[in-house]
Amino acid sequence: MPKPLKLHLGCQEKYLEGYVNIDLPPSEHTAQIVRADEYADVRDLSYDPETVDEVRSHHMLEHFSRQEALVLLARWHRWLKMGGIIHVETPDFEESAKKFVTSGLDDQFALARHIFGSHEASWAYHKDFWSESKFAYVLHELGYGDFRFEKFSNNLEQKIPALKGSFIAKQEKLLGKLGKMGFNNLSNIACYAKKVVRDVDYGAAIKRILGKSLVGREKKILDVWMEDISGKV
Ligand SMILES: C[S@@+](CC[C@H](N)C(=O)[O-])C[C@H]1O[C@@H](n2cnc3c(N)ncnc32)[C@H](O)[C@@H]1O
Repeated sequence: MPKPLKLHLGCQEKYLEGYVNIDLPPSEHTAQIVRADEYADVRDLSYDPETVDEVRSHHMLEHFSRQEALVLLARWHRWLKMGGIIHVETPDFEESAKKFVTSGLDDQFALARHIFGSHEASWAYHKDFWSESKFAYVLHELGYGDFRFEKFSNNLEQKIPALKGSFIAKQEKLLGKLGKMGFNNLSNIACYAKKVVRDVDYGAAIKRILGKSLVGREKKILDVWMEDISGKV
């Protein structure tokens, strides 16, 4: 039995055994110590169609423009074997936005960092939103299915399940975050899906998805976006 090919993209400090861990080189990091098997820009990676068993990525997809992210999701779909898995985690924009409008200024600074990125390196900016409904729509268009979502934060209940529903956990929720202890109430979403359709017209699917971001009479902008992705999927 050949060893499964599992990619962990944007791994940074989280080295996963059994995966090919890939990230930008140490020279691109200012505050973290990156440990990878390969140092590369994930936009430059290339694998043969239907050779990859899993593509996994935590808190990286939001760092790409809407065109780039769609190109990556389409390429990952092409590389995956039928039934192959995509496991992508990002900040949950929808839940974060809900928290933002009901929070005081102190918590809004932390929430805005979660929404817009940490800004300590040229890659550390978030360029688009991801949420359960967006993942489901975009990934369906690109030939993925069999979705499962997990929504979570690093609050006490998540880190110590035994405290679920307890008085202490409720206090922590009220307080919002216990930042110095590594706890926070910032919302994340993990999306698990499989490649369920083989022949997808990626260009047409991406055009439909990008068209949703047009406001008013902006056909020329769609042309520019499509020019950006031309030859990349
Ligand atoms: C917010 S960190 C997340 C790190 C880790 N996955 C985690 O969840 O803790 C984003 C990572 O994506 C990587 N990244 C961003 N753009 C990239 C690119 N174009 N190619 C490769 N890695 C990239 C960064 O170098 C960084 O390590």
